[in-house]
Amino acid sequence: MTPMPISRRQFVYAAVATGFAAAASAAPLVRRRKGYGAAVTLDDLQAEPRLAQAINQYCTEIVPVYELKWGPLRPSRDAFAFERADALLAFAEGNRLKMRGHNLVWYYGLPDWTKDIHSAAEAERELVHHIETVASHYRGRLTSWDVVNEPIPDWAPTPEARRDCLWSSFLGQRYIELAFRTAHAADPDVRLVVNEYDVEHVGPRFEKKRAALRRLVFDLLDAGAPLHAVGLQCHLRGATPIDRDGVSAFVAEMRGEGLDVYVTELDVIDQDLPAAPAARDAIVAAQVEAVLEAVTAPAPLDTLLTWGLSDRFTWMTQTLPRADHIPNRPLPLDADFQPKPFMATIERFTRAAA
Ligand code: G3I
Repeated sequence: MTPMPISRRQFVYAAVATGFAAAASAAPLVRRRKGYGAAVTLDDLQAEPRLAQAINQYCTEIVPVYELKWGPLRPSRDAFAFERADALLAFAEGNRLKMRGHNLVWYYGLPDWTKDIHSAAEAERELVHHIETVASHYRGRLTSWDVVNEPIPDWAPTPEARRDCLWSSFLGQRYIELAFRTAHAADPDVRLVVNEYDVEHVGPRFEKKRAALRRLVFDLLDAGAPLHAVGLQCHLRGATPIDRDGVSAFVAEMRGEGLDVYVTELDVIDQDLPAAPAARDAIVAAQVEAVLEAVTAPAPLDTLLTWGLSDRFTWMTQTLPRADHIPNRPLPLDADFQPKPFMATIERFTRAAA
């Protein structure tokens, strides 16, 4: 692969990220957890030095919240803006952290120029070109890719239900297998994941969505697609019981088919939980404990990531704020980077890294 020329901007980003390495490497590694990672943005790393330190203290992997998505990566049909994701990879590699990719295909957040795609041939060309270029750019340097993110609709009346998106409108549901095969051809060693949310709780909505995810997985396996893992996002609803038996049975069946199961975006939506921090943190930790017990009943987890590390940086502030306007507390560390019961729960389900 021809090395990509590095622009001045890329150099600056990489230098900044590597600078984090020096600042962060001072953090004690005493509690770094094998297989535990957190989602992060380059903006957040640059805004708050304690974030890099905390990542180095607890994590062995990161995943970019945003920088590998179509929106930031593809400013135009002819351009790939890798420098911000490259800077996060430089931060990871400079701190002996792994990095996973999120995501190659998603129904959401497509750049405006994709509205000019008007045929199946053009859709296939753009989808394949994107995956080939991005997966090749990071070949051999990522642990896994969320190849297709959230392919199941929120309401899945039948197991055959699939979410409509730009790609399915032109290619039908074959876009999913095409994405996996294209990613595998571009990087044969990276683990390829289908990633989904809202399959962890009790209730018909979640059970139906889990059944549709199961159907998709078996359709891909029956087609011989290079699928290696199922990603359970685990954006848990704080006040809705975890379907322990349903999740354990699902995970056992996936593992029985030779697939890994990853927890990819763990956090707890606390909009409907008590305001008092101690009470809320206890419920959050109990939900996390319940889902991790369910997921690990068949076998230990080797990949567990939270969608952020500190309450200071959570998507919920913008997207799922509490009615009482009290800050959300969905993550393992509080806004001052102090561990909460959530982190103790993670430590019970992970091992200290060597
Ligand atoms: O980085 C820019 C910044 O430069 C700019 O000033 C700012 C204001 O416009 O926007 C920043 O980008 C935002 C980005 O998050 C990083 O903070 C985007 O506008 C915003 O749309 C983006 O939202 C993210 C969302 O996915 C869409 O990509 C959320 O942070 C992120 O938490 C959310 O994550 C998703 C997973 O990918 C899939 N599973 C569900 C999960 C939560 O929705």
